[in-house]
Amino acid sequence: MLSIYVSSTIESEIVINLTMMNRGPLGKHDSMGEIVLGTLAPHPPHLVYADNPEQNEPHSEGGWETLRWGYQRLARKLKNIDYDAIVIFTPHWQTYIGTHFLGLPNFKSKSVDPIFPNLFRYNYDLEVDVELATSMRDSAAEAGIITKMMENPDFRVDYGTITSCHLLNPEWDKPIVTISSNRNRHYYSVEVMNEQAIALGKACFKAIEESDKKVVLVASHSLSHRHFVEEAPLPEDMSREHIYNHSQYVWDMKIIELMRQGKMQEVIDLMPEFTEQTMAETEGGGLTWLMAAMGYPDYPAEIYGYQSVIGTGNVVAAWDPNESTRELVL
Ligand SMILES: [Fe+2]
Repeated sequence: MLSIYVSSTIESEIVINLTMMNRGPLGKHDSMGEIVLGTLAPHPPHLVYADNPEQNEPHSEGGWETLRWGYQRLARKLKNIDYDAIVIFTPHWQTYIGTHFLGLPNFKSKSVDPIFPNLFRYNYDLEVDVELATSMRDSAAEAGIITKMMENPDFRVDYGTITSCHLLNPEWDKPIVTISSNRNRHYYSVEVMNEQAIALGKACFKAIEESDKKVVLVASHSLSHRHFVEEAPLPEDMSREHIYNHSQYVWDMKIIELMRQGKMQEVIDLMPEFTEQTMAETEGGGLTWLMAAMGYPDYPAEIYGYQSVIGTGNVVAAWDPNESTRELVL
């Protein structure tokens, strides 16, 4: 009789592999894709303006370094992660019938911020992972979500997508998928928004899992979103920048503390109240979508920086599922 000694480590690996084999059909690639990082990446156009990249027409003398340096550190981390595509959920592509996905391999135009055309006139030329976008659309449709692929070659990509993607990956050397924000908040309530974003997040995760791709997910938005109504004569004059008011700040700190503690289910449970009280850009569903896709992480978020931009609260944060590369940043 042949006896084989199996160590507990190997045994657990065998169990894991058998479990994976038993998951059923995985789609045409027969391999499992994964989310390699999730980020909350705010998109004030001021940050791109302050960076003076060649794509942006206006010129600045800098500003908002706490956020920009935080972004630069996260961008360096991303350089060391093997991934195939960035999937970004933006509140500034607002759709009123269904959820839309960029559906052509290339979009090229000039993105102008409608509120700050003095700061942001950005010439972009970006690649889309249409295969991944289509599979996410199909998965969302299967879940009962109304969907549409954006296949108008003249469609102008929103500045939320451009800003967050530029700051995370200034080289633009990875394809993206942009997902629109259906305005459930406007039609119904924050509670309905939360539920719909959860369903969309789960559907996107299913599509990723059934692909063979490693994906970075991005929720593009700030936290508290009350802001100044008058712009400083010099927008980058940091002597004029400060939080909008103390209660907004306290709410932001509460959310960030929960992120640090790995209590993301609690953050999502608090989302309706937080969104109502701080006019937060979470109203678009981005953070809820991200957390649902990642299974509500119970490990600490990496915090890269918090700063106000025209009074709004902005945190750059990341969730690294890989324990060996997860960091205590700030
Ligand atoms: Fe915004």
